[in-house]
Amino acid sequence: MKYTELTEKELDEVVKKYIEYYNTVEDCCFTYEKAYKRIHQVMTIEDAMCQIQYDDNGSMTGFCMGYYKQFDDLLAYFLEEIVIFTGFHNIGYGSDFIAEIEDVVKKNGAEHLELISVNDAHHMHFYEKAGFYAAKNLSMMGKHWQL
Ligand SMILES: CC(C)(COP(=O)(O)OP(=O)(O)OC[C@H]1O[C@@H](n2cnc3c(N)ncnc32)[C@H](O)[C@@H]1OP(=O)(O)O)[C@@H](O)C(=O)NCCC(=O)NCCS
Repeated sequence: MKYTELTEKELDEVVKKYIEYYNTVEDCCFTYEKAYKRIHQVMTIEDAMCQIQYDDNGSMTGFCMGYYKQFDDLLAYFLEEIVIFTGFHNIGYGSDFIAEIEDVVKKNGAEHLELISVNDAHHMHFYEKAGFYAAKNLSMMGKHWQL
């Protein structure tokens, strides 16, 4: 596998593949503008670290986006999202990507890797396999309303 930094140059292709996955597999309703905005927002956060994955045939097979977060006692990396594109699931690409992210952020001084996961058997298996655990001292909170 090959990994490169996500830049504005690859953004159009990433956005299209992102939409292709979410709007067909997960029944989402991304427009190009919304998907572009979502990814671009994270890319432009201070200390962002976003990468693209290519397989050995040169196909773009996934991307990740996130950023380093400074705490009092350590530097962490928050993985906002990892997506393996349509046609490349369940063949180890996601696991390879997580290992690569861990390598890169360790080299850059981060001692902690965190994310918010979908709470289902698939995601739990995927992240636990990579050594992640569910935080016991934190709870995801939200509030929602109709406009
Ligand atoms: C989550 C995701 C990144 C995993 O990538 P991937 O390349 O398919 O991951 P891998 O092939 O390395 O591993 C997938 C594992 O899940 C397992 N799996 C697949 N479907 C499953 C299910 N329904 N229940 C339990 N395990 C499941 C696979 O068998 C494999 O485990 P194994 O290696 O022990 O056999 C990918 O599915 C994805 O991009 N999903 C859409 C975006 C997303 O949800 N991102 C994460 C946001 S929190």
